[in-house]
Amino acid sequence: MTTRVIANIGELTTNDPTLGEGVTGRLLDAAMVIDDDVVLWVGANANAPSADEMIDARGGAVIPGFVDSHTHLVFAGERSDEFEARMNGNPYDGGGIARTVDATRAASSDVLGRTTNQRFSELRAGGVTTVEIKSGYALTVEGESRLLDIANIFSDEVTFLGAHVVPKEFANDRGAYVDLVRGPMLDLCARQSKWADVFCDRGAFDVDESRAILSSAKYVGLGLRVHGNQLGETGGVALAVEMDAASVDHCTYLSDDDIERLAASATVATILPGADFSTRAPYSSARRLRDAGALVALATDCNPGTSYVTSMAFVLAIAVRDMHMDFDDALWSATRGGAIALRRDDIGHLRVGAKADVVILDAPRAVHLAYRPGASMVRQVIVPPGGWKPTGWFSRGGGRISDA
Ligand code: NIG
Ligand code: FE
Repeated sequence: MTTRVIANIGELTTNDPTLGEGVTGRLLDAAMVIDDDVVLWVGANANAPSADEMIDARGGAVIPGFVDSHTHLVFAGERSDEFEARMNGNPYDGGGIARTVDATRAASSDVLGRTTNQRFSELRAGGVTTVEIKSGYALTVEGESRLLDIANIFSDEVTFLGAHVVPKEFANDRGAYVDLVRGPMLDLCARQSKWADVFCDRGAFDVDESRAILSSAKYVGLGLRVHGNQLGETGGVALAVEMDAASVDHCTYLSDDDIERLAASATVATILPGADFSTRAPYSSARRLRDAGALVALATDCNPGTSYVTSMAFVLAIAVRDMHMDFDDALWSATRGGAIALRRDDIGHLRVGAKADVVILDAPRAVHLAYRPGASMVRQVIVPPGGWKPTGWFSRGGGRISDA
């Protein structure tokens, strides 16, 4: 076991208010010691103990690795034409999901593995150390299972989203598709997933259908997540709170009651600034949620339709500039908030005992992430050895997705 001291940290975000200033527990002129797995020591640079190795932060800011708690990383194709049309006034209605379903069904596992790896690498280069990955672009029993297999190569935070939309072959029998998702699809996919998610919105699943699917998923032991209130005040938030979902994501349209419900619950409101940006939706009321006392997370929602975004720095910039979040709250939401949305205690902070997921920035203060949008300032991403699933070579289940 090798110990490493990270010295000469200009500004250290611990996310433990007992260790430093504000909600992010900020320490100036700090140092920390990690071993291969966890944080061993945090304190003033002047008091830093010695260790086997030294990493010189050279005055840079250090933050916990970003926890991106909402992505659809496994898909084929792209939909830039829809983005262009939206910028010219076309609204988003979820209809384009069917195009990605066609492309994904037709793609080989090789192609899906390589393109997922590309997006995963982009997230990692931007400081993401934990990523949640959903299925949802196959919508058949075997197809969803194949996407989950690929997702499991990259993350332990894998979500079954068979209830993304009703596929075209069930257009005249929605009930049969809901039964398929709750029955044979869930039977197979639950073994490959930690979470289940439902797109509860206009053009996808209504509240009763969503409740039925989530109930079945809960019964087989999956944690719950909901895509809610993206396209209107369509009941997803209330359902998520009713069912004690870990998170309800989007929250673009919120009534005062929704905000009160969230504030009184353990359900995290996960805000997806990239989706509001890329669909020209109104920006979600992240500031109001935070002021009301709700738990708020920020995530990329990386997907080809509404948010082809792999930069948490970009997400932070929108949250601060357009959603009026205080930078410290936004940084907390992109790290600790994401961890709570995944019901994890070991990540999203840098207290002694936390997982050693650490990001060193080429900037003296973390606020440069939002202050200098577009600049790449992640100097080093540290994760425990083995903490990353393999990239170029994929080993799960003894199978191999070749680089060819
Ligand atoms: O989170 N809204 C539902 N699902 C995705 C978008 C899917 C798509 O358009 O391909 C989202 O925005
Ligand atoms: Fe999504």
